[in-house]
Amino acid sequence: MITSSEVREKYLKFFEKRGHVIIPPAPLVLENDPTTLFTSSGMQPLVPYLMGKKHELGTKLVDFQPAIRTIDIDEVGDNRHLTYFEMLGNWSLGDYFKKEQLSWIWEFLTKELRFDKNKLYVSCFEGTPDITKDIESYRIWKSLGVTEDHIYYYGVGKNWWSRSGVPDKMPEGEIGGPDSEIFFDFGGEDCHPNCDCGRFLEIGNSVFMQYFKRKEKLIELSQKNVDFGGGLERITAALNNDPDIFKTDIFWPNIQKFEGITGKKYEEEKKNFRIIADHLRASEALIKNGVVPSNKMHGYVLRRLIRRIAVKTSEVDKITDNEVILNEVKKFKVSLDKGLKEIQKVKKISGKIAFDLYQSYGFPLELTVELFKDKGQEVNLDDFKKEFEKHKEASKNLSTGIFKGGLVDHSEETTKLHTLTHLLHASLRRVLGDTVAQKGSHITHERLRFDFSYPDKLSDEQVKSVFNLINKKIDEDLPVSFIETTPDEAIKKGALHFFAEKYGDKVKVYKVGNFSLEICGGPHVTNTKLLGRAKMIKQEKIGSGIIRIYVRFFEKK
Ligand code: ALA
Repeated sequence: MITSSEVREKYLKFFEKRGHVIIPPAPLVLENDPTTLFTSSGMQPLVPYLMGKKHELGTKLVDFQPAIRTIDIDEVGDNRHLTYFEMLGNWSLGDYFKKEQLSWIWEFLTKELRFDKNKLYVSCFEGTPDITKDIESYRIWKSLGVTEDHIYYYGVGKNWWSRSGVPDKMPEGEIGGPDSEIFFDFGGEDCHPNCDCGRFLEIGNSVFMQYFKRKEKLIELSQKNVDFGGGLERITAALNNDPDIFKTDIFWPNIQKFEGITGKKYEEEKKNFRIIADHLRASEALIKNGVVPSNKMHGYVLRRLIRRIAVKTSEVDKITDNEVILNEVKKFKVSLDKGLKEIQKVKKISGKIAFDLYQSYGFPLELTVELFKDKGQEVNLDDFKKEFEKHKEASKNLSTGIFKGGLVDHSEETTKLHTLTHLLHASLRRVLGDTVAQKGSHITHERLRFDFSYPDKLSDEQVKSVFNLINKKIDEDLPVSFIETTPDEAIKKGALHFFAEKYGDKVKVYKVGNFSLEICGGPHVTNTKLLGRAKMIKQEKIGSGIIRIYVRFFEKK
């Protein structure tokens, strides 16, 4: 049996030998990226480079990228869907294109991994009235020895990739392109590669990233790129000729552990065991990336995963030794019991009651649906949603589509907040001293969040001094500019930097007047006169010696 580590190793080496530089994976929570909650694909951290920015490590890159896709959460439980997975990726940033990509990936699968070519199928883009059919890929596949009955054409629904889906759904500025997928055939009924019957499993996707959206039209990017993504779990499953990804070395040891603890067999408890195994792995990864359970944003997703684990098992305390997970489960246990009592009083379930159970006792909708199904009652999901939308904070999470991996634009507002972050960092250090160091930051289009080291929350006096200083600097109309230099040189000049960041040979150093100097990729506004009045919304102590503050603009200019 081949392990996932062997597959990963072989992949990186294969592309390294063909001129690619191995780059480290980006964190699951991208600091300073307001566009999505989580890294959900390998291309996400590379968007600026796909759009033409020069990457310091060159034009051919290879990596493995852990990713979270909460859009698939309801499908977890079958043999192939995961919320957390690892994507193998190789990248051409305006370098090679279709011929090299398809030849290399074919060679990797059939020679390096020794897949039987008779079990592989491929698909190409069928075209639309506006975008040409990908006959070129079809011809390349044929020249590589793929027979015609193993090549399929599909339309935009299947053979087009962008983070937001089909061309019509792509927002202004989004990039995408036609793709060519590879499937493994486990054998079975007569069907086709994109059928959901389970016969075929998609194991890799070469996206020819060559368009971006401008004024509702697709425009050719200045460079033609390749974005390949292959699910490590799926490739490993296919290599072992078992369509169940939970049987791979990634999950199987844990599943055996569940069997031991519960005394139940995987075959009897397949769906529950799969959900628990996936959610545990995802939760642990999120916790490692600094997320803690909460009611908002990243923390809410983690909470939802852990509560679902708790609902699926009463033996959580035995299957995990992760403290954060156990604490969250303990917290939920109290409301779980209260909620169950409440449920006994309910004669007829309604969407509103389901929402109250969710709101007051943290009962995931799915649990309520399950519990009332046993009583022969159905929850009206539309009513539940209506209640949900009435609730402002919760609906913000739902409607912005962040659970779906949707996008918020890189707007002017986020750029302004980005510049404000530099002013804040510099001001905190002037007022509080050098013990202040950045521990993290996150920007949405409305506010910035900044974590820094300091023993206690700031006094009113300190807050006032910091913000007076920031607003004074804003009023001074300071120009914002940058130079490019080596990280060593930048640090020697006294540029602030974020310890967790990995730097290449060259970095940008942003300067705000003579007030702030900081290593940063940008973008920033050109002058502080473009900023509004900054004000702190709240502060909290999030750990020993770490303070988190939220800031936004008032009186926009
Ligand atoms: N970016 C492509 C995907 O995620 C490869 O499927």
